[in-house]
Amino acid sequence: MYETWEQIKNDICNCQKCKLYQNRTNIVLGEGNKNADLMFIGEGPGADEDREGIPFVGKAGKLMNQALIGLGLKRQEAYITNIVKCRPPGNRTPELEEAKSCMNYLRSQVMLVKPKIIVLLGNTALKNVLGQEYSITASRGKWFQKKGIWYMPTWHPAALLRDESKKIDFWKDLKLVLEKMEEK
Ligand code: URA
Repeated sequence: MYETWEQIKNDICNCQKCKLYQNRTNIVLGEGNKNADLMFIGEGPGADEDREGIPFVGKAGKLMNQALIGLGLKRQEAYITNIVKCRPPGNRTPELEEAKSCMNYLRSQVMLVKPKIIVLLGNTALKNVLGQEYSITASRGKWFQKKGIWYMPTWHPAALLRDESKKIDFWKDLKLVLEKMEEK
C-alpha cells in the first residue's frame, strides 16, 4: 500500500506490473477532489483517456458529466478513477491478472481519498471491488456496505450509449447516491 500520492506517482510512472504498459501513451491515474466524499470507479482508459491521461473524457465520460450536471453533482467535487490505469488494447475488458496487478494503486487511492460513497461503474468495477460473484444486472441500484464505505453499483456509461433505456436506471441510481450524500 502507498501512504502518499507522491509514492503512488513515483511507482506508477514506470509501472510494468502487467502487459498493458506496452501499448500505453499515458497512465490514467485519476482526477478530481482528493478529499471527495464521492468516488467513481470505471473499468479502464479508452483511446481518448489514453491520449489525454484523464479518466472519462471520451463519449462515455461526456454522458456521465451530463448526468452529474443534471443531478447537481459537480464532476470536480468527486474523485474519478478506473480499475486499470493503462488502456487495454481495443478497449477489451481488463483481464483478472491485469486488474489484480493494479489493485494496490486503487486500494491506496481509496485509502487516501477516504470517500463515504463509491459508485462502481459496470461489471468490471463491481467484480474487482466487491467480488467476482457479483453481477451488475442483479446488483445495480442496491447499496452495499464494506469497511465503512457505501458502494452503489450502476451501469457503465458506455452501456448507456449502446442501450438508451439504461439511462433511466443510471439516473435512478445516481439519485440514490445524491440522497445518501445529503443525509450527512
Ligand atoms: N471507460 C472507463 O471505464 N473509464 C474511462 O476512463 C473511460 C471510459
